[in-house]
Amino acid sequence: MRAAPSPSTEPVLSEGEGPRARGTACPEGSRGMAIASGKRRLRRLCYSRRRRRLPGPARRVPRMNPLWLVGLVAVLVVALLVWEFYVCEGAHFGPRVVIGMYDLAATRYDRIKQFDPAWETRFVGEPIANAIEQLAGARVLDVGAGTGRVARTLLPLVGPDLELVCLEPSRRMLALGREHAPGGVWLRGRVDPLPFADASFDIVVSLEVVEFTPHPRLSLQELVRVLRPGGSLLVTNRVGREAPLILGRTFRRVSFPERLNALGLQDVILYPWQVEYDLAWAWKP
Ligand SMILES: C[S@@+](CC[C@H](N)C(=O)[O-])C[C@H]1O[C@@H](n2cnc3c(N)ncnc32)[C@H](O)[C@@H]1O
Repeated sequence: MRAAPSPSTEPVLSEGEGPRARGTACPEGSRGMAIASGKRRLRRLCYSRRRRRLPGPARRVPRMNPLWLVGLVAVLVVALLVWEFYVCEGAHFGPRVVIGMYDLAATRYDRIKQFDPAWETRFVGEPIANAIEQLAGARVLDVGAGTGRVARTLLPLVGPDLELVCLEPSRRMLALGREHAPGGVWLRGRVDPLPFADASFDIVVSLEVVEFTPHPRLSLQELVRVLRPGGSLLVTNRVGREAPLILGRTFRRVSFPERLNALGLQDVILYPWQVEYDLAWAWKP
């Protein structure tokens, strides 16, 4: 077996060779001489004063540049902020943040939603108006009324007898709603808790709101509490592909009717609603 050149300061000798082996002097600058011989040839190994950088397992481990770590953390933080503010609309930071975001977006809200008046009348105003027809002199509550989507479509369809209360926590959304639908009674307030007595409304509506509230189960409970026996609830549940990303704020499509049943509601009917939602009608016995 032949000894490999080593970075150590000791001469390297081939097996069976000793100091008696023949050799010639090393060039200037070398520190010593090592001799290795094969059967036919004599080989001289010189080792230098300068240590050679030989590749070894320890030397190959690359050191991680700390900038990579900083970059990775920055990307994670940006991804989390995009998720929280773009998808969840700040829901996990509490109602003040959500309401603040609606204040900021209020003037752009209708454009973002691309409301089509004909569609809104057909799928929002008319179904509620039909339900009201069976309940003369109805009191209707719209929770999280936004810029007046329900009020704008419902009020022109029903007579002046209808009392429509629009509850909205964002000042700017509320101001726009009042401007668009002055026929409604506009109040500033949140769903958690609702500032109304038990069983005080014939119809309670809440469209695209529950998933942005701190405790969606309690929000649903509040909507049911203020509904009178014999009245109907119209509420949305977010089910689109982003729904599972709004952690803890949405209900699975199959479990939503069960949740409403658990709150004492019956005859739950679900309709697909604007791609991202299910719309549920439910009756309080
Ligand atoms: C997606 S918008 C829906 C507005 C309206 N219902 C519509 O369909 O156009 C959500 C609304 O819920 C309101 N909101 C947010 N948090 C709320 C809370 N805790 N209680 C009641 N409303 C809330 C917002 O201010 C906003 O107007």
